[in-house]
Amino acid sequence: MDRVFIFDTTLRDGEQSPGATMNRNEKIRLARQLEILGVDIIEAGFPAASQGDFEAVRDIAKAVQNCQIAGLCRALPADIDRGWEAIRYNPQARIHTFLATSDIHMKYKLRKERHQVLEMAEAAVRYAVSKTSNVEFSAEDASRSDWDFLVQVFERVIAAGATTVNVPDTVGYTQPQEFAELITYLLTNVSNSHKAVFSVHCHNDLGLAAANTLAALKAGARQAEITLNGIGERAGNAAMEEVVMAMDVRQDFYQLSTNIHKEQIYPSARLLSLIIGQPIPPYKSIIGVNAFAHESGIHQDGVLKNRQTYEIMTPESVGRQEEDMVLGKHSGRAAMTKRLQDLGYHLDEQQTDIVFTAMKKLADRKKEIFVEDLEAMVLDEIFRIPDKYRLEYLSAISGNMSIPNAVIKMYVDGEERTISDFGTGPIDAVFNTIAKVVGRHPKLIRYAVNAITGGTDAQGEVTVKLEENGKTSVGRASDADIIVASAKAYLNALNRLAKRDEESICARL
Ligand code: KIV
Ligand code: ZN
Repeated sequence: MDRVFIFDTTLRDGEQSPGATMNRNEKIRLARQLEILGVDIIEAGFPAASQGDFEAVRDIAKAVQNCQIAGLCRALPADIDRGWEAIRYNPQARIHTFLATSDIHMKYKLRKERHQVLEMAEAAVRYAVSKTSNVEFSAEDASRSDWDFLVQVFERVIAAGATTVNVPDTVGYTQPQEFAELITYLLTNVSNSHKAVFSVHCHNDLGLAAANTLAALKAGARQAEITLNGIGERAGNAAMEEVVMAMDVRQDFYQLSTNIHKEQIYPSARLLSLIIGQPIPPYKSIIGVNAFAHESGIHQDGVLKNRQTYEIMTPESVGRQEEDMVLGKHSGRAAMTKRLQDLGYHLDEQQTDIVFTAMKKLADRKKEIFVEDLEAMVLDEIFRIPDKYRLEYLSAISGNMSIPNAVIKMYVDGEERTISDFGTGPIDAVFNTIAKVVGRHPKLIRYAVNAITGGTDAQGEVTVKLEENGKTSVGRASDADIIVASAKAYLNALNRLAKRDEESICARL
């Protein structure tokens, strides 16, 4: 069977999607999970985009050593220098450089003629090859480019040393059969095509990203650029879980294999969803809560008789286990550490102590602690950016006989403040009070509460999206009390806004 390389761009293209911003610790945590998942290449970011991006890519390149780390660079020497500076700590670092090749992009965006684009692409690849032999070139908007021009571009960059050439469907425009024909055309007409891996990168504007990716793989492409949960620019990218599981379930048709450990698919999807605070839609294929639920009587009857009547894959095969109660009030540190390690979290002593204390506190309020509760605690307690604003104490009063109000004690840069205010409901009162304390009044764009597990004692997971001076930020937090979870999520979003302010001040200095 032919091997397909999985190039994960969750941390780059995925992070470009609205509300999916991650901090450096969260990015490193996700990159480690991608390594466990078995992806071949992680595109860690766009180092020249900002100081924050640069540092995150550099730290991922240092932390992850068992798969290739790629950094995206425009076809410019300065970008390539910056990209290489960030990724060079990884033993198999890859420079990924790109340039648009469609007439519309060349004319309006680049203002360049075809011969200039050819020269620029070749020069960028030559420059990248002077740093590493692992170089990928992407012809941006390839699916709307002239096919014969693409042949020329790929011939030139492969001759210059590119070992992977990528054919992006940048605007999600192509159709499966057409895209397969394009790949066949390129493999046949690019005279040195045997010297490079052909890759595809599909966007989902018409809902065809996974279908187009699979059609291209069937036609001979051997690298798929994907993201977890399909996040990405606009309508997103091809979803890893869909592309990988289609090849797996229909091995008879594709005859292709990947290095992905399928049982890590669901834990990875869930981790991303927790980090970015965007719940997985219930009907989402493979990872959604309904993906394996059988509602109709006829289906249930069939499944009871033989699961294969209505199930083309098992939930266990993608790492979805029915988790029983995992821990409780009397569970010890060792049991918790073991459970965390099973989930892929390898915490040091100090981090374990922090989570253990949080677990004991939660166990006083909630009888059963599930895997999801543990994960939420690790994210809340460990992978948080250092907080400028920190909640110490909160009391909120509501009901139909009183005006909702909140009293909050919190720290701002280590200084204690206590204040109270009213609102139209308890959450509104809490948000108003916090805004008063910190002296910022961002606009609330989104507020969502989700029960992490079943039962009335379930922890509430709250996601808050704020906008301030044209910048948005998402905050997430969980707690057995949804008002407390809301306050923490609001503060988390405010801390992210504050962190960005600091970064832009540093960038100006
Ligand atoms: O969609 C696109 O064309 C890209 C390239 C930079 C690969 O993301
Ligand atoms: Zn893209």
